[in-house]
Amino acid sequence: MLTRRRFLTTSVTACGLLGLQACSGETDYAEAVARIWRHSATTLDDAAARTLELVRYATLAPSSHNTQCWKFRPGGDGISILPDFDRRCPVVDPDDHHLFVSLGCAAENLIQAAAAFGQHGEARFVSAAGGSVDIALTPATAQRSPLFEAIPNRQTTRGDFDGQPLDREELGLLAQAGRGEGVQLLLLTERQAMEAMLELVIQGNTAQIRDPAFIRELKTWIRFGEAEAVALGDGLFARSSGNPALPRWLGSRMFDLFFSEQAENDKYARQVRNSAGIAVFVSAVNDAAHWMAVGRAFERFALQATALGVRTAHLNQPVELPGLRAQVSDYLGLKPGRPDLVIRFGRGAEMPRALRRPVAAVIA
Ligand SMILES: Cc1cc2nc3c(=O)[nH]c(=O)nc-3n(C[C@H](O)[C@H](O)[C@H](O)COP(=O)(O)O)c2cc1C
Repeated sequence: MLTRRRFLTTSVTACGLLGLQACSGETDYAEAVARIWRHSATTLDDAAARTLELVRYATLAPSSHNTQCWKFRPGGDGISILPDFDRRCPVVDPDDHHLFVSLGCAAENLIQAAAAFGQHGEARFVSAAGGSVDIALTPATAQRSPLFEAIPNRQTTRGDFDGQPLDREELGLLAQAGRGEGVQLLLLTERQAMEAMLELVIQGNTAQIRDPAFIRELKTWIRFGEAEAVALGDGLFARSSGNPALPRWLGSRMFDLFFSEQAENDKYARQVRNSAGIAVFVSAVNDAAHWMAVGRAFERFALQATALGVRTAHLNQPVELPGLRAQVSDYLGLKPGRPDLVIRFGRGAEMPRALRRPVAAVIA
């Protein structure tokens, strides 16, 4: 069995001998990161240009597997966010829960950005035609909030955290940011509760890794090399999860060899134990309107965390599987309510950034 260390050595050699395409992609990748993860001037007078900027900020939101499962339709008095069902993940997200949470995240970014550009945004979930989010925009005094400032710095950080707790004031700010109508946020910072959640994460992770359909779907969204990540502008970039960049043919084989239940479970155990806490988002009603509201609350939480220098990452395995989701509900005493997201948080180093598709690709 090859060790991870040997995997790294092998891949470095492979990069030199075989992976010229992946290696030369490094510059393009760095350029893409600089182009995507940036602020722009918020003084645009041209309405059409401003709309495109609001959409650009919205696309910086997180989405499940970085599918960017959204389309934006600018209208007379606002912008609608529509689901892009071509980008759904039927195995990990059969009821499109994550898809609608992702739309909520995009809506929150758009509303935070609108305020900076001098517009007040009101989001409304529309059930017709598969569900969408209408954001009505009206003129307001321009205000750059700390959450807006944090948008280009937020990332899903899959690395280790420093094991230090947050202080009460920081936890209070996170709790406030993560509030939402029809949304409950539970912050677990006691070790016993975190260990109980870890147990469920491990059960969920084990079940998912044993499911060939889950692995097949996951692999279609992994971008193993820089060139592939830049060309597609979506998906899970291998380096963002701490793995080396490789051409797809090689990365895919390495994944089959090294993505193991035991290694992943050990990593999650370590990472829960070096987190400051776990946040669980719960929707009061199990429907798309509430999932969207959860997405908005979660994104505010993630932006507030970023503003405090705190990082976030997902531990959603137990809420992705109905049987385990019921156990999460029982453990947390949720009746009614659907646990939607499980998020670890703490301080840690930045990881390589995930990319985005260009704005033109997401305009409906
Ligand atoms: C609804 C939802 C579910 C997600 N689930 C997971 C997950 O289970 N594991 C994980 O590592 N990341 C998860 N993510 C994070 C995405 O993979 C991440 O947002 C995406 O890759 C883009 O990266 P970024 O957040 O750094 O911009 C999820 C994000 C959303 C919005």
